[in-house]
Amino acid sequence: MQGSANLNIMIKAARKAGRSLVKDFREVENLQVSMKGAGDFVSRADTAAEKILKEELRGARPNYGWLGEETGEEAGEDPTRRWIVDPLDGTTNFLHGLPHWAISIALEHKGEVVAGVIFDAAKDELYWAEKGAGAWMNERRLRVSGRARMIEAIFATGVPFAAKKTLPATLQDLARLMPQCAGVRRWGSAALDLAYVAAGRYDGYWERELNAWDIAAGLILVREAGGMVGPVREGHEPLVHGDILVANTALYEPFAKIIRNT
Ligand code: IPD
Ligand code: CA
Ligand code: CA
Repeated sequence: MQGSANLNIMIKAARKAGRSLVKDFREVENLQVSMKGAGDFVSRADTAAEKILKEELRGARPNYGWLGEETGEEAGEDPTRRWIVDPLDGTTNFLHGLPHWAISIALEHKGEVVAGVIFDAAKDELYWAEKGAGAWMNERRLRVSGRARMIEAIFATGVPFAAKKTLPATLQDLARLMPQCAGVRRWGSAALDLAYVAAGRYDGYWERELNAWDIAAGLILVREAGGMVGPVREGHEPLVHGDILVANTALYEPFAKIIRNT
């Protein structure tokens, strides 16, 4: 499957930043003795990856706007298009030497995500989707899972760390959901959680208090793989409010009912 010129720019940028992160990831294990040392090293790796992504993406499309986790927002000459970038999603995993983290790049046009790339560089799994062109992982077309029974389904979420105010709500979600499904996973990368729903590995995913860069690329992957995307709180917009709930079409309603407690 051939993507657009913009998609090729996104993939090239993701692979370049991926090489830099993989090199740094190999170093992290040697630094584990001092957590502070490792922490500083990882934030440098993160910043370096964003720098590469910005040079590649803005270099190729200088008139597009920019929203990156590490460098913030910059308006472009073209107010209708912007890149939304998380150079390293799953930072805590990266810091702990766990190979489950990714680069997330989305292209937004007039407020809608029209292309997304999520690159799991440690496993060499490159996920991409473009509006109308389907969702793909390397050479394989992606479809959400076909499971229709809650009791057979596996869901993913992010459990907020202690300081976050959404922790109690998430624990209550788990208390309602866990008795009714086959399991819940918490692997620490919102971008990969969404990519895994698109790939049919997870049957659904929900999380609160995220940022646009965590979910923008994942949203289009799930949609183009035939899944449903909505907010946790009805009336919210995932990209604006940062709460998201996705699943295959058969499970979306029963799953949303449990999470929304309606
Ligand atoms: C985090 C991850 C994690 C989610 C957090 C995010 P980061 O992003 O996506 O899964 O639970 O809320 O902030 O900080 O690793 O880029
Ligand atoms: Ca993130
Ligand atoms: Ca990040």
